[in-house]
Amino acid sequence: MIRIKNRVEIDRMRKACYLAAKTLHLAGKMAQPGTVLNDINAFVHDYTIKNNAIPAPLNYHGYPKSVCLSVNDCVTHGIPNNYILKEGDIVNIDVTSILDGYHGDTSKTYLVGEVSPEAKALVDAAHESLWEGIRAVKNRGTFGDIGTAIQHYCDEHGYSIVRDYCGHGIGRKFHEDPLVLHYHSRQKSPRIQKGMVFTIEPMINIGDFKVKTLNDGWTVLTVDGSLSAQFEHTIAVTDAGVEVLTDIDFDDE
Ligand code: MF3
Ligand code: CO
Ligand code: CO
Repeated sequence: MIRIKNRVEIDRMRKACYLAAKTLHLAGKMAQPGTVLNDINAFVHDYTIKNNAIPAPLNYHGYPKSVCLSVNDCVTHGIPNNYILKEGDIVNIDVTSILDGYHGDTSKTYLVGEVSPEAKALVDAAHESLWEGIRAVKNRGTFGDIGTAIQHYCDEHGYSIVRDYCGHGIGRKFHEDPLVLHYHSRQKSPRIQKGMVFTIEPMINIGDFKVKTLNDGWTVLTVDGSLSAQFEHTIAVTDAGVEVLTDIDFDDE
């Protein structure tokens, strides 16, 4: 059941999304050679609490930290540890904030110092594939249109799309209906309607789409060891149109 949000609820989501985006923007500045992943986690945790919010990942189904940090061949759900970022790494920072009972969820992949042309091209393609998906969102369209658009882009550019993790509805709960596929499927998908709020968050690999989970129960890696990149936005369909709630330009503020 896809929960439709009213104006008041979407306003609350807007505030949660603003905080998530601001937190990500500030955390992103720490994506530099020499930074310890645990320090990014500590920043996200403290900044969230200071803003009267809760870091959604902490204790979510037993997840032990306040942010997900996924480096290089880590696809998603990387657990912050004592790893020190080094020149040439790519790192996805995935921030989810709960403010006034509502979730905002957004991630970006950052380049650590100078990275290889292949890594840079992958990260650019992951960003572009998110926006291909966002541009496919139309009131009265379907959720399937999103995956079709992303797949078209990735096929054209020679990247594979992770199939085991999807975008999701979001609101009072972190993960709500529907599942938002990032690849083309012939399965019937629900219609997109006003009042729906959901994420799009494609994970794109240089090599094969296959992934494996480590024994910690969280860390997801590419099976072939190839690099993976991801960007995520939270999107609301309202009377005003398709609003990307986590897309805020902080350099303007
Ligand atoms: N933020 C992730 C998402 O985009 C989910 C992380 S679940 C956690 O859906 F427990 F690992 F935090
Ligand atoms: Co998400
Ligand atoms: Co997320």
